[in-house]
Amino acid sequence: MKNSGGTETQKRRAGESAAAVVEDGDVVGLGTGSTAAAAIRELGRRVDAGLDVRGVPTSRGARRLARKAGIPLTTLAASTPDVAIDGADQVADGDLVKGGGAAHTREKVVDAAADRFVVVVDAAKPAPALDHPIPVEALADAVPVVERRVEALDGEPTLRAAERKDGPVVTDDGNPVLDCDFGVVREPETLAAALAEIPGVVGHGLFVDLADEVHVGTDDGVEVR
Ligand code: 5RP
Repeated sequence: MKNSGGTETQKRRAGESAAAVVEDGDVVGLGTGSTAAAAIRELGRRVDAGLDVRGVPTSRGARRLARKAGIPLTTLAASTPDVAIDGADQVADGDLVKGGGAAHTREKVVDAAADRFVVVVDAAKPAPALDHPIPVEALADAVPVVERRVEALDGEPTLRAAERKDGPVVTDDGNPVLDCDFGVVREPETLAAALAEIPGVVGHGLFVDLADEVHVGTDDGVEVR
């Protein structure tokens, strides 16, 4: 599920602004999605110009893009990211919904491990409160159980269908994703904890209190919040 509405220019501006915070010698978490891709491309240009960085990709897509951009790669086993740059589907009060690209579980691991987590979004993503459906990655056999538990939390789960393929979307780790509509999320921290403790949930896209700064690309420039 992609949240469109922002423009390519806004995404590029946010990505370039975040790439500018990266310093020589940094290990950088490389996010997934079109706005994070703008940051990866800009980092690649800086590497071409002599910047010494290593990237930790959050998905196969990010890895492929980083290789294409000429960014040397490393792993969480070898290094701790100094900074992670990643997109979001919605931002409210610094909390995020992520997972439009079904990479939220790996993204959370890398983003939370980084000393500084920089979020990059277009102008359509900030909202007064989070009400975007929350992606929940679950073990395939656990889907019926997870659906019932989400419903008990007053959520409405929908198994994410693949496009141009029959059947469900599967993550890079081979698991299906349930997009869970909770309406307006009044208490993100409580919901995040409740989702995390459902047996069979591998990871969810509610990122509470993880972002250090948000770079919002606009038609006029970039707002850093
Ligand atoms: C992928 C994500 C993306 O960062 C999120 O979907 C935003 O993507 P885009 O920058 O293309 O709007 O969470 O799992």
